[in-house]
Amino acid sequence: MKKILVKNQVEGGKVAFELLKESLAAGAQTFGLATGSSPIALYQEMVESDVDFSEFYSINLDEYVGLSPEHDQSYHAFMKAQLFDTKPFKESFLPDGMAEDLEKAAKDYDDVLAHHIIDLQILGIGSNGHIGFNEPGTPFDSQTHVVDLTDSTIEANSRFFASRDQVPTKAISMGIASIMAAKKIILFAYGDKKADAIFKMVKGPVTEEVPASILQHHPDVTLILDQAAAAKL
Ligand code: GLP
Repeated sequence: MKKILVKNQVEGGKVAFELLKESLAAGAQTFGLATGSSPIALYQEMVESDVDFSEFYSINLDEYVGLSPEHDQSYHAFMKAQLFDTKPFKESFLPDGMAEDLEKAAKDYDDVLAHHIIDLQILGIGSNGHIGFNEPGTPFDSQTHVVDLTDSTIEANSRFFASRDQVPTKAISMGIASIMAAKKIILFAYGDKKADAIFKMVKGPVTEEVPASILQHHPDVTLILDQAAAAKL
């Protein structure tokens, strides 16, 4: 894994945008996108750039179950506000967290993934080592699936909701196998709350208890970290 230390998220966004432009120059068509606070500076760079994304595809990692695309904390709404409203893609895919048949929605998402190879996947990381919403214990060969969110993830994400009991308890997430199929991966981590997960991901054993540790087996991962997140390395 390649590590790039940055001063802050703004610098991390600029570094990632340069890597994204390299991918574009190399012929990338499909971008795997993530939510959370860590990729926001990259989206800001994309929004402020003169790059036209309307011939490209985006595929997001995950969506909460039970939040409509109009709900301000849905990942549909997040992506619209952060990126798609100003930089529309040819097609943007997110899992359907409102589907009556969630298992079918997960299968449908795997069909999307089967038709689009992700050239560049953007990731954040949960403080428990999750990627997407693949919580500890998720099989490494998983495909898109319905997830019961862990208490620590609900707690961490409650900062975006009026109260903890408004945080959805389930999500649909792209599986670890699909993330690993991306040709190139950029993972952002900022702040001391991520230091333990970053240490385990980079230096610990590859174990399903730390979903991000599988990235040790991926041939092209770049970590963009601030000093606090890299502190235990
Ligand atoms: C959520 C998302 C993840 C994200 C994580 C970390 O749980 N499902 O994709 O990586 O939060 O978020 P942040 O970047 O805000 O720390």
